[in-house]
Amino acid sequence: MSQETDLELNNRNTVHEICKPFVLDDDTLRKIKDLFLNDIKMGLCKATNYKAVVKCWITYVQSLPSGCETGKFLALDLGGTNFRVLCIYLEGQANFHMDFEVYEIPEKLLVGPGRDLFDHIAECLAKFIKTLGVKKDEELPLGFTFSFPLKQNGLDKGDLVAWTKGFNCPGVVGRDVVELLREAIDRRGDINVDITAILNDTTGTLMSCAWKNRNCKIGLIVGTGSNACYLEQLKYVSTYEPEADNRVPTMIINCEWGAFGDSGSLEFVRTKYDKEIDDVTHNRCHQLFEKMVAGMYLGELVRKLMLDCCKAGALFKGNESEQLNKENTFKTKFISQIEEEKRGTYVITKAILEMMGYKNPTDSDCENVRYICECVSRRSAHMVATNLACLIDRIGDPYVVVGIDGSVYRYHPHYHDLLMQKIRCLARPEHKFDLMLSEDGSGRGAALVAAVAARIKSKEMEKSEHKRSRMLRRSEARKSNKIS
Ligand code: BGC
Repeated sequence: MSQETDLELNNRNTVHEICKPFVLDDDTLRKIKDLFLNDIKMGLCKATNYKAVVKCWITYVQSLPSGCETGKFLALDLGGTNFRVLCIYLEGQANFHMDFEVYEIPEKLLVGPGRDLFDHIAECLAKFIKTLGVKKDEELPLGFTFSFPLKQNGLDKGDLVAWTKGFNCPGVVGRDVVELLREAIDRRGDINVDITAILNDTTGTLMSCAWKNRNCKIGLIVGTGSNACYLEQLKYVSTYEPEADNRVPTMIINCEWGAFGDSGSLEFVRTKYDKEIDDVTHNRCHQLFEKMVAGMYLGELVRKLMLDCCKAGALFKGNESEQLNKENTFKTKFISQIEEEKRGTYVITKAILEMMGYKNPTDSDCENVRYICECVSRRSAHMVATNLACLIDRIGDPYVVVGIDGSVYRYHPHYHDLLMQKIRCLARPEHKFDLMLSEDGSGRGAALVAAVAARIKSKEMEKSEHKRSRMLRRSEARKSNKIS
C-alpha cells in the first residue's frame, strides 16, 4: 500500500471525528442495557404499562412447538417491503414444505385508505388459492403474520396500535386487523378461509426456530424494522390474567423494542443524523431505537455522514454530487456490499460510488466511505446486542438460542460476529447463547401458531362437549329421580 499523504491523514482524521458519535463504548452500552431492562419491567407491569414505551404485548402464544405439529395451513406475511402468501404443509418430526408467492404492494397502498390495502391482500390471497387447486368446500386455517405493533386480545384478535416502517394507511389504527381482513374476504365472497391466528414476525421467527431447537427462547428481526420477542414467566406478567384452568406458566412477549427511546431515554446517544432522519418520517418521535438500528434507515444515515464529510472537504475533495444531496439514494444493501469487499480492494465500492455520482474516487475516499459504513452497521449491531444481552440475562437459562431473521442480519457480512462478540461482553458469563438464522419464520411460524390455535379450538370444543353431556346426564338423572 502506498504511503498515506498528510492530506489523506487529515481527511481520515476528519471523517473519524465526524463518525465519533456512532462509536459507543461498553459503559455506554451497559447503561443502555439497564435502561432497556427498566422499560421491559414497565411494559410487563399492569400498573405502569399505560405509560411504558416498550409495551411488551401479550401474544397469547404460551408454549413452544413440539415438532410434531401436522397439517396444511395458509399464511400471509405483511410487514416488510414485499407481501407474501404461503401454503405450508407441516409433516411432523420437524419436516415441512411450502409453496409461496411474492406480491408487490404498490407505493400508493402504503399510505392510502386501509380498506384498499386489505382489498389488495384479499385479492392476492384469492389468486394464490386458485393456483393451489383447493376444493370448493375445503376451508383452510390461516395464520396472519402482521409485523406492526398489535394489542392482542386473543390468538385471532389484534388492534393495530400504530403503523411503522413507512406504512401509514388511515382507518386502521385502533381497529382489529383480523376483522378488517375478514371483511375484505367477505366483500369478495370467492374464497373460504378461517383466520385462526394473528402474530408478529418475531413470534413467527421464535416459533419457527424453536420447532427445530428447543432451547430457542428469543425471536429477533433486524430487517426493514427491528423488534424482538421472548418467552417470559407468567408470574412476572401482570398485564395478563389467565383463565382459572390455564396452568401454562409461560407466555411469548412481543417487546416492540423499536419504540425503546421514545420516552427520551436514548437522547444521550442519539446523534443529529438520527434526529434528521426522524424528522422526515410519518411517525416522528416514535420508534427511535428502530431508527438507529434497522435497515430502513441505515443507508440514509451513511448518506448523511458522507455528505457532512464531503462538506468538511474530507471526502471527494469536497464535491457534492446531485445523488449525494438527494434523500435515500444510498441503499442499505450498499453497506453490506462495501463491507463484504476484501480490505484494500475497491472494485465494488467504486461501482457504488459511481452510482452516487463519483466517477473517480480515490482509494482513500473508498477507505473512508467503508469506515462510515462500518460505524453505522457496528452501532446497529452493538445496540441490538445490548438489548439481546438484557433478554438473555432476564430469561436466566444457562443456555439460550436466539432465532433471527431480517435482511440486515442475513446479508451484512459481519453482523452475526459483531452480535456474538458484544453479547458475550455484556451478558452475564454464566449465560451461554447461540444465534440461529431463521428459515422462513414468517411463513412456517404462522403455520405453527395456526396449529396451536387449532389445538386450542379442538380442546375447547371437547370441553364444551363434555360440559354439554354432563348437563344432559344431570338433567336426565333429575328427571328419572322425579319420576321415581
Ligand atoms: C414493528 C414490529 C416488527 C418489526 C420487524 C417494527 O417496525 O413495529 O412489529 O416486528 O418492525 O419487522
